[in-house]
Order: sequence, then C-alpha cells, then structure tokens
Amino acid sequence: MATAFAPRIFSGIQPSGGLTLGNYLGALKRFAEKQDEGIETIYCLVDLHAITVWQEPEALRHQTREAAAAFMASGVDPARSILFNQSQVAGHAQLAWIFNCVARLGWMNRMTQFKDKTAGKNAENASLGLYAYPSLMAADILLYHATHVPVGEDQKQHIELTRDIAAKFNHDYGVEFFPLTEPLIEGAATRVMSLRDGTKKMSKSDPSDASRINLTDDADAIAGKIRKAKTDPEPLPETLEGLAGRPEAKNLVNIYAALAGIAPEAVMSEFGGKGFGTFKPALADLAVARMAPITTEMNRLMADPAEIDRILGQGADRADAIAQPILARTMEIVGMVRSRQV
Ligand code: TYM
Repeated sequence: MATAFAPRIFSGIQPSGGLTLGNYLGALKRFAEKQDEGIETIYCLVDLHAITVWQEPEALRHQTREAAAAFMASGVDPARSILFNQSQVAGHAQLAWIFNCVARLGWMNRMTQFKDKTAGKNAENASLGLYAYPSLMAADILLYHATHVPVGEDQKQHIELTRDIAAKFNHDYGVEFFPLTEPLIEGAATRVMSLRDGTKKMSKSDPSDASRINLTDDADAIAGKIRKAKTDPEPLPETLEGLAGRPEAKNLVNIYAALAGIAPEAVMSEFGGKGFGTFKPALADLAVARMAPITTEMNRLMADPAEIDRILGQGADRADAIAQPILARTMEIVGMVRSRQV
C-alpha cells in the first residue's frame, strides 16, 4: 500500500544531550545521503519527545540548537531538506492525541524502550509522556504521510508500531489514508556499540564517557578513546565469520567500514591477519579525518544561534504547510466538526 504514496522520508533525533558517533553513523550521515538521492526529506529535532524525561530548560534550548548544528555539519542542507523542531508544528501533538485513542494499551506494554528506560527504576514514577512516546513518534511520521524512515536498529519496533497504528486507523474508519511506512535500516553501522563493552549500544546516557565518541570531542579525545577501546588479544580474522564471538572487534570493523563508506568485507581484506596495534591507529586516523571537520563546523554554526533559530523557523513553516491539510483531513475522517477557518 505504501507504493500508492509519493516517496517521502521523515526522521528525527532527540535533542536530549550530546550526540554520539552512533547517532552520526546510524542516522545523520545517512540522512545527508538520502537527501542527495533526490527524495523529499523532512528532519526533525524531537523536543516534545526529549521532555518525556526531565530536561533543564536552558540545556534543552542549547541541545536543540546543537543538534540542528550537527545535522547541518553532517551535510543536511536546510535549502534541500526541511529541518525544524517538533514543538513548533502543533500538528504533531494534535495527531498524537488522536493516535493515543487508536493505539491499544497492550501495544504500548510491549514496547522494549519503555522497559529499558524504566529498568531498575520505579516505573510508576515515569512520565505518562514516556509511556505514550511511541504514539507521538507515529504522529511525527504519519503527519507527513512519510513512506520511509531511516533509523538505527533500536527504532525498529517503533516503526512497526507506526504501521500498526496506520493500519488500525485505516481499518476502523474504512479509509486508505495513512501509508504503511517502511523502516530503512541499512549499512554497517545500524547498531554502533560501546567502546568499553561490545554487547551494549553506544549511548549518550552511558555513565562512561570513554564508551562513546561525542560529536563535540576534539581530535585528541577521538584518537584517545579509540586507542583505549576494549579489544581482545587476537589479530583480526581474514573473514567476517571469524568475528563471531568477538563483539568489540566486530564493532570496530563496522565503525571503520561505515566511516570509510566501504563494506566490512573490504576492511577484512585490508586488515585480516593484522593486530590491533596496526588497526587501531588506522581507525583513529580515519575517525579524526571524518569527525573533526564536523565538530569544527558545529562550533562555527553554534557561534550564531539566531541564524540557527531562523533556519529552524523556516523549516517549521515548510513542515506546517505539508502537515495542515493532512491533519485537517484526519479530523474530518474522525468526525470532528470544522467550525473555524484558519
Ligand atoms: P534517538 O534520539 O535515540 O536517536 C536518533 C537516531 O540515532 C540512531 N542511533 C544509533 N544508530 C546506530 N548505533 C547507535 N549506537 C545509535 N544510537 C542512536 C537511532 O536509531 C535514531 O535513528 N525515537 C527516536 C526519535 C524519533 C524518531 C521519530 C525517529 C522521534 N520521532 C520519527 C524517526 C522517526 C529516538 O529516540 O532516537
């Protein structure tokens, strides 16, 4: 059914703290590539999602501008893609409410992200917003009739839920109004792992700063973290199969492949049989060469926050123009009286 809809890409990132190499390889880098493929691309800083856990107001403002700078420094061009922050387009919250009435409690109870985020804590004390988070995410995507969503692997379940919500809405109201959106989970870096533990996802919320490369890290910090990354004493194998049971080695190979834009097999043919004493400096050089210019550009952009706000404002106007008719039609399908012409 998605084929009946014009291809349109939507994706989002939470401005809830420093972004990592995982966000860059799993999302930002691919967002820029999609834009360059000539598909319509809409990218969003999801500040409504960020406040599902406590954010200091000034920090949230800073993080939102910094995330906008990260998009642009990674190659997202606001003249070709729509770039905006979620709270500025009211339709996200409005459609999310309608979807709260479509989605079932049982569906929400199966969401692993809520379980992960409340693990070891008192779930009774989590915000209602954190629980309803996936239905707002479905609204983000379906407010634009987006057909494809590039994300890392951790978001797969949320996209499946988005399809369930679209299908139930279409079925309940007897329409074919919302597309069944496809996730795009492609490439070597759909799940970048911690540099300290190859079985854990690289994450901004990991207490160890050495576990991740932040987009704000300078060249020395990047090289240092790669030099100290956990590995094993064996040399790299000649084939990918040889990486089985070696999560840290596999992670570094995948990072190298994604940064270099080559297949992991090509990394094995270059470094197979060589030790980490050779591989790590090569990876550090590559990471610095790719990431340091992004950090420099982010700093340049952050020196002019008013310009960032202007770009986000323009993006919000463009996003709103697409969203308004879709939201109006949704309300009409649901049976709401349109009493005001706005
Ligand atoms: P968030 O902010 O946690 O992450 C943003 C994007 O980065 C990807 N990512 C990773 N990819 C590979 N390896 C990692 N270690 C890694 N860490 C993060 C995520 O998969 C994601 O693509 N719920 C979303 C935000 C969102 C959204 C949306 C996304 C809200 N509405 C609509 C797509 C469409 C989230 O929390 O992403």
